[in-house]
Amino acid sequence: MTLATSLSTPAAASDLGRAAEPVSLAERYRTVRTATEQLCTPLHTEDYVVSSMPDVSPTKWHLAHTSWFFETFALAPFAEHYRPLNPKYAFLFNSYYVQAGERHCRAQRGLVTRPTVAEVYEYRAHVDAQLQPLLAQVDDDPQHPAREVLELGLHHEQQHQELLLTDIKHVFWSNPMRPAYRADRRVSSVPAPQGWTRVDGGVRDIGYEGSAFHFDNEGPRHRVFVQPSALAHRLTTNGEYLEFIADGGYRRPELWLSRGWATVREHDWRAPLYWESVNGAWHEFTLAGTGPLDPHAPVTHVSYFEADAYARWAGKRLPTEAEWEVVARTQPLAGRFVDAGVLHPHSDGASGLQQLFGDVWQWTQSAYLAYPGYRASAGALGEYNGKWMSDQWVLRGASCATPASHARVTYRNFFPSDARWQFTGIRLAHDVPEGEA
Ligand SMILES: [Fe+2]
Repeated sequence: MTLATSLSTPAAASDLGRAAEPVSLAERYRTVRTATEQLCTPLHTEDYVVSSMPDVSPTKWHLAHTSWFFETFALAPFAEHYRPLNPKYAFLFNSYYVQAGERHCRAQRGLVTRPTVAEVYEYRAHVDAQLQPLLAQVDDDPQHPAREVLELGLHHEQQHQELLLTDIKHVFWSNPMRPAYRADRRVSSVPAPQGWTRVDGGVRDIGYEGSAFHFDNEGPRHRVFVQPSALAHRLTTNGEYLEFIADGGYRRPELWLSRGWATVREHDWRAPLYWESVNGAWHEFTLAGTGPLDPHAPVTHVSYFEADAYARWAGKRLPTEAEWEVVARTQPLAGRFVDAGVLHPHSDGASGLQQLFGDVWQWTQSAYLAYPGYRASAGALGEYNGKWMSDQWVLRGASCATPASHARVTYRNFFPSDARWQFTGIRLAHDVPEGEA
């Protein structure tokens, strides 16, 4: 059964449904820094140190790198007489900022046993203490030149909160003991039959416009031409993806992009990451450990290649980011974020348009490129987003590991075609012939 609603008037506000935040920057800083450390509560010291593949950073590195960001971009330029706790940390904990100096090899972060976890926590405490006078100054002066970078530092740390969870998931998956980050496991309800929201063709505005925080890659707001199309009401489920597998999805080259098929063969992919067959039955590793695959939950840990092949098999396609944003602007900025504590995509059986935000990041068919008029910031911070605009795809929404206050309708996440370790999933779209829209 196909349900369809018509969409023609996008909402104007860019911050739809944003939750109220504490007023002072100092208080927000404390909240974000504490949230990072709370994510580490289930971990033992040994868990903090491991990197299971080049994309995965050790928990200890995330804790230190987020502190290095504040140290390098806020304390060094804006705090009087600041002295680093240890000058060698800049080499270890700079990620990719070439203009900020030489840095350690990313793939070897798991070899760094010193500083110890305790010393990294001391580093965080040092940065926290040194930042307090600057935070107070900025709270007293709305025009303070450090405000922008401190705000960026908070959102940067929230990005690393999500990475911390997805990285420790891969670390635990790589351990034959298959430890669980948390104990409980939720089972999804039967999802409603798929329905479709029409997107009328025409000129639309997308991108951020406003004065609240946003990453530079979300703007400028600009016009795009959208073809008549339809966006799926909900995410693709494990059960639906199982039909693709059962129909030979991973064995049929005609369904795949050339590089996708080469990747399937090279890595012998037969299912999404974290799926394994146990006595002939599919199981899935989650942050709650390994359990039977939940057919009603949204499929996740699929690459762009897999999302694209699934869509082709289903006779549909992935949405463009403009189609996604036009529809998402009509919806409240609500969903299962990390704050819900589920830590896995879920279906509660609701009907109608849903899951635009939270659960899984949704692959789009839009290449990650600069919007018209985009200019990266000057200096090292200009490296934050702009230099990654090649060979990656835009993902929209947010995931079950994203902090709620970090999500925006204009947010542009991006990953390369073969990345699978993030909570990435599928929302289908299809063309609507002119005259039917
Ligand atoms: Fe970072």
